[in-house]
Amino acid sequence: MKRLVLASSNVGKLREFRELLTPIGIEVVSQEELRVPEADEPHSTFVENALGKARNAARHAGLPALADDSGICAAALGGEPGVHSARFGGEPRSDARNNERLVELLKHEADRRAHYYCVVVLVRHAEDPEPLIAEGRWHGEVIDNPRGAGGFGYDPYFFVPALGRTAAELEPTRKNALSHRGKALARLIALLREEP
Ligand code: IMP
Repeated sequence: MKRLVLASSNVGKLREFRELLTPIGIEVVSQEELRVPEADEPHSTFVENALGKARNAARHAGLPALADDSGICAAALGGEPGVHSARFGGEPRSDARNNERLVELLKHEADRRAHYYCVVVLVRHAEDPEPLIAEGRWHGEVIDNPRGAGGFGYDPYFFVPALGRTAAELEPTRKNALSHRGKALARLIALLREEP
């Protein structure tokens, strides 16, 4: 398998997936480039949403498809924003409003723990009965004031105590090595290597 469609139009994710998959000889084409219509994400679990997106992209593009579903889960908010991370601040989706709402909700909370979660799903074709599924988590804390200009989404507010930095202050390769998406993808690559 040399070419697959990524079931996302998020340029940050596209860049991160390319950085991880190009070195192992996999070309990642965005679904936007192939005019795949975006799938709905109606489910309450990340894995169901990712599977729906992967099937939709494989069906429209006629290629193997990779999808991820991810989000940030704050302990004091019972795991929210979770699957609602992308639109937490309302429509149209905006990183600035998402971050504003998260920081506002945590303003009086002593417990600032949060983790990023990512599940990646690869289907060989739209009806693949054995999708490859891998997940990853990255633990940190939500801070009140943004730091750093890298990454995307909640990264300037996602502080990793062990590093003394936010995700937005890390070099892209460092973030990929540590992140929820990087871990999930490394596990997916291990599963791919088990394929005949
Ligand atoms: P998805 O496209 O439905 O998976 O939405 C995931 C949302 O979670 C994104 O739009 C971001 O708001 C947030 N998110 C997921 N991964 C990251 C990350 O690595 N950094 C910052 N925000 C992230």
